[in-house]
Amino acid sequence: MQERATAALAAGKTISFVPTMGFLHQGHASLLREGRVQGDLLVLSIFVNPAQFGVGEDFESYPRDLQRDSEIAAENGVDIIFAPTAKEMYPHGYQTYVNVETISLPLCGASRPGHFRGVTTVVAKLFNIVKPTIAFFGEKDFQQLAVIRRMVRDLNMDLKIVGMPTIREDDGLAKSSRNSYLSPEERSAAFCLSRSLAAVSDLYRSGEKDVERLRAGLLEILTSEPLARIDYAEFRDGDSLEELRQADDRTVVALAVRIGSTRLIDNTIIGRGVTWKERC
Ligand code: PAF
Repeated sequence: MQERATAALAAGKTISFVPTMGFLHQGHASLLREGRVQGDLLVLSIFVNPAQFGVGEDFESYPRDLQRDSEIAAENGVDIIFAPTAKEMYPHGYQTYVNVETISLPLCGASRPGHFRGVTTVVAKLFNIVKPTIAFFGEKDFQQLAVIRRMVRDLNMDLKIVGMPTIREDDGLAKSSRNSYLSPEERSAAFCLSRSLAAVSDLYRSGEKDVERLRAGLLEILTSEPLARIDYAEFRDGDSLEELRQADDRTVVALAVRIGSTRLIDNTIIGRGVTWKERC
């Protein structure tokens, strides 16, 4: 992979990169399509990264389907699939980790200690291997995107990071590989995430700026769903992820909610609103 990347760059080509853990869905496909447009060589990585899963999390059961992923990659013009093994990425004696400090701590960082250290480590390694000119990440993983942007700035990494809008099912549920864990009953219950985000965004846009009152509106919908257990429901500054008392157009509303045993995340920039097919 490194040799092919070096050769492409030497030939004056740009490299678009979409890092994933596979089990691709339309969210990933939208990143690939944008990558195809913005770069000469389009690289997709598929690697279920053990370093970002905690003890008791779903590393073993995380869905995998390399055959189907290869078909989706081909449909979207991918030139190279880079799918290393865990031994290749973390050989015996491996001991170097990248840690972005403050913004890795709240939200998913608090619920999943060590998660972002695993993400930034693997993403830094992938950047060194694939040598991208531009890399694409979904805004659904809002904190991940903020942490990666911080790492790229702090470590002077020479590439552009692009965040791409969340792709949703017709009823609003954000596309995620983990949606495949949901039973039909849980799948209907999961609608409460996007519904609560849309409601809070509507409330904000009708003039409510007080975070406690906005939070009450959000919680009313989430707590009325019997299958939902809230991990966090927070209002944060869209760049620093600091807590806020008053919302403004850049405020991010970030959710992590367990539906049965599946932990789902979603978010919105409050001033933008949330739309999906059945809501339009
Ligand atoms: O978002 C993901 O799928 C993963 O966290 C990433 C960025 C590919 C790193 O393993």
